[in-house]
Amino acid sequence: MNTKKISASMMCSDLAHLQETLRIFENNKVDYLHIDVMDGVFVPNLGLGVDYIRCLRDVTDIPLDLHLMIREPEYKLSWFGIRESDIVTLHYESTEQIQRAIDLLKKYNCKCFVAINPGTPIYSIEELIEDIDGINMLMVNPGFAGQKMVPSTMRKMEKMGAYLQELGKQDIEIEVDGNITLEKAEILSGYGANIFVAGTSCLFTGSLDQYASNLSALKRILQ
Ligand code: DX5
Ligand code: ZN
Repeated sequence: MNTKKISASMMCSDLAHLQETLRIFENNKVDYLHIDVMDGVFVPNLGLGVDYIRCLRDVTDIPLDLHLMIREPEYKLSWFGIRESDIVTLHYESTEQIQRAIDLLKKYNCKCFVAINPGTPIYSIEELIEDIDGINMLMVNPGFAGQKMVPSTMRKMEKMGAYLQELGKQDIEIEVDGNITLEKAEILSGYGANIFVAGTSCLFTGSLDQYASNLSALKRILQ
């Protein structure tokens, strides 16, 4: 079984307290920093870019979980300084040729994930399964923090867990992204999810000094 991991969603963090936030995440062994890269075309928002990523690399060694919500990501991979310990996620619909995009991503020897939106059928990953390390299951339509989960995605996650079992591919990691509360994390974990994007719904609530206890609460649930 894949170990349970936490990926802290940095678009929810307070830039004015970046260093303190990162020290808390390091001390509490956050597994990844989730970076929502948005181009205003693939999703209706602009988000974390290459300068921000470069700055993060200078101040922390926590691996990055790069969620690329951009058109034609395969031509932009060299911009991000991808490391082998990173996760890089491409969206199924972000390019005409997702399999070619994954092939190009594999050259970086990072973990290669494919993201599927709430409206994307789980079976779209079938022909990609031999090429990927994981799936990002979007529980909201991507682009914004603080949204309500699309209700059908809970059942969809259950179906995805069962589908991977049926294919004998339980080693494929499943990340859940969007409105992950403690209650939902527990249920999704039972369905086979193993990476939890922690945003405004469970980690970035209250002041900075509550983050450590928010993380402990999430870790307790995932044990
Ligand atoms: C979507 C984003 C958001 C967010 C997660 O790609 O990753 O879903 O940061 O945090 P919430 O939804 O809890 O604010
Ligand atoms: Zn994301």
